[in-house]
Amino acid sequence: MQKVAIIGAGRVGETTAQFLAEQETAREIVLIDIREDAPQGVALDIAQSAPFFRFDTRVSGSNDPAAMADAEVVVITAGVPRKPGMSRSDVLDINVKVIDGIVDDIMRYAPRAIIIMVTNPVDVLTFRAWRRTGWPRARVLGQAGVLDASRMAAFIALETGFSTRDVTTIVLGGHGDSMVPVPRFCTINGIPVSHFIGPERLEEIVQRTRDGGAEILALRKNSSAYDAPGASVAAMVDAISRHRHRLLPCVAILEGEYGQRDIAMGVPCVLGRDGMERVVELPLNDEESAAFATSAAGVRADIGRLP
Ligand code: LAC
Repeated sequence: MQKVAIIGAGRVGETTAQFLAEQETAREIVLIDIREDAPQGVALDIAQSAPFFRFDTRVSGSNDPAAMADAEVVVITAGVPRKPGMSRSDVLDINVKVIDGIVDDIMRYAPRAIIIMVTNPVDVLTFRAWRRTGWPRARVLGQAGVLDASRMAAFIALETGFSTRDVTTIVLGGHGDSMVPVPRFCTINGIPVSHFIGPERLEEIVQRTRDGGAEILALRKNSSAYDAPGASVAAMVDAISRHRHRLLPCVAILEGEYGQRDIAMGVPCVLGRDGMERVVELPLNDEESAAFATSAAGVRADIGRLP
């Protein structure tokens, strides 16, 4: 891949850029932010880590949206983060205005890009961006499930003592309090996780996963999470850049899958060079389906609040 643009040089944008550079996922990464000098400073700092990681990726920063010209992937991290006690939906009104302007810039300067939405509330804003672009759903997706699943995997590894490499998890639904971790499809190297963790403890891990973002925000106080979020976005860009056909939970526009349409939320997706190649429908049981429907209702309510 030649070029990735990251809109928003805050902590998530910066961490994403660092990982993408270290992994040489693209030849060029440009960070764009409206704050004067900020993206240039971030880019310079990352560029100066190149001798340690031995990357040749060119990292630059700009205040001009035209700098995203012809990017193959545009990652949107700009917007206001939530403060302790706020839900992800509480920042909707401000962030939708921010995102509309950015999406217009992308249509103008990078009309063939794949958009990865990261700004919260991510499900609603992914939907908004898709509507506004009028692009095929393959090219407008969001990051949430990769992060939520990594949190769950980290908790399971801590609990069992097994290597994180052997833990596979999946989290569906909206990226909010009603997200749907699915322990039935979580394994340690193919062995159901229920073989190692009892039902009550597993339920605690499920709840801690749902609260994963809030837990970090409450501890950090003046910042949301950004290390695992940046790594999650980088994994998605890598899957696209290297045409891996990875099966990852992503925020996708649904066209009847899971009984939903006119909505964006977290489902297992296949990612390759054209973006979201397809949605994979899992055989959910009654309880999981009900949880998914409840989560969808929450996302739909927020979509209904869009101006
Ligand atoms: C989180 C926030 C950023 O999950 O959505 O950490």
